[in-house]
Amino acid sequence: MKAVVLVGGFGTRMHPLTLHVPKAMVPLVNVPFVERLVTYLSRSGVDEIGLSVCYLPDPIRNHLSRRFDRNLRLHYLHEDQPLGTAGALKNSESMVAGQRFLALNGDVLTGINLREMMDFHLQRNSQITIALTPVENPTAYGIVETEADGRVVRFLEKPTWDQVTTNTINAGIYILEPEVLKLIPAGKPCSMEREVFPQAVEAGWRVHGFPTDDYWIDLGTLEKYLVAHRDLLSGRLAVDIPGDQVTEGIWIGPGAEVDPSAVLEPPIVLGAQCRVAEGVRVGPYAVLGDRAVVEEKATIRDCVLWDDVSVGSRAMLKDCILGSSCIVKAGATVEGVRAFPHHTTVE
Ligand code: GDD
Ligand code: MG
Repeated sequence: MKAVVLVGGFGTRMHPLTLHVPKAMVPLVNVPFVERLVTYLSRSGVDEIGLSVCYLPDPIRNHLSRRFDRNLRLHYLHEDQPLGTAGALKNSESMVAGQRFLALNGDVLTGINLREMMDFHLQRNSQITIALTPVENPTAYGIVETEADGRVVRFLEKPTWDQVTTNTINAGIYILEPEVLKLIPAGKPCSMEREVFPQAVEAGWRVHGFPTDDYWIDLGTLEKYLVAHRDLLSGRLAVDIPGDQVTEGIWIGPGAEVDPSAVLEPPIVLGAQCRVAEGVRVGPYAVLGDRAVVEEKATIRDCVLWDDVSVGSRAMLKDCILGSSCIVKAGATVEGVRAFPHHTTVE
């Protein structure tokens, strides 16, 4: 099975973290998000993946080519200018080579059962199957109205509240028959959500919604990023967590040194070669990247620290995200959902 993953967006809603790092390379419990996505696809039976890249493609390519071997065929589909979600898929036409394929937004974290979705697609002889998930605020997504058998009767991207008729939205995962690419013009921007899906429904194509209650979240915003970490740390979606689970809810990477007086409140993850000094409190819900240094009596909870962060003594951190190599000065207090790009000094 082939898949095309869209990872070309600017990640604007995750600024400032995504100013220098593509959203796909943002770590999720110490593993770049795109690596988690590729692992999920490969475990679902996908053996060939096209990564549709545009903004900051090199870190994505460099990382994936190191992490995956030749059992998984990876292609990089470059756009000189953003072609939109449909233009990017059109750009993958030669890789898709006339076969049925999966297409995914590259910013969704999910456990949706793709094999069940494929059965659903085949049973209905569908041309476009869209995974559907319930959300509280449909206005941030594309709403999808279906009939009882799943046939889609309306697709409306980013509705206003008075247009909201359902809380089931497009989960950003599609199974597409190859002829769908004929609906998309080559070499110019085009949107699946605003153009292709509404037009296909209107023109009577066989478009179905596959409803699922499996875990799903999109990593659109800093708040969601923190929620996704809480969910993974509390086991709402089973994923690989780097390090050894030394006790229930506490993972510690190789070479980490934790002073015996430090209080570790699960669930937490400490990366490789972390140093946690005396009297420090970490957790609940904290992820420290590799080589983090936390000086005495600092407190860290509900936070995500990328690699090489240092936290000075008595600093207090809550609900924040620190990019790589950030330095938190001794005694600093940071609260509320905030993010600092790499190399920031936080006072
Ligand atoms: N290659 C490429 N080129 N990728 C792109 C482009 C582009 O021009 N534009 C967006 N992408 C990628 C983004 O990187 C992201 O992974 C995905 O396409 C979706 O774009 P977003 O900008 O994140 O869209 P959204 O979150 O507002 O809405 C989409 O996702 C929702 C689910 O999370 C839509 O598909 C909604 O209908 C859907 O409900
Ligand atoms: Mg998104």
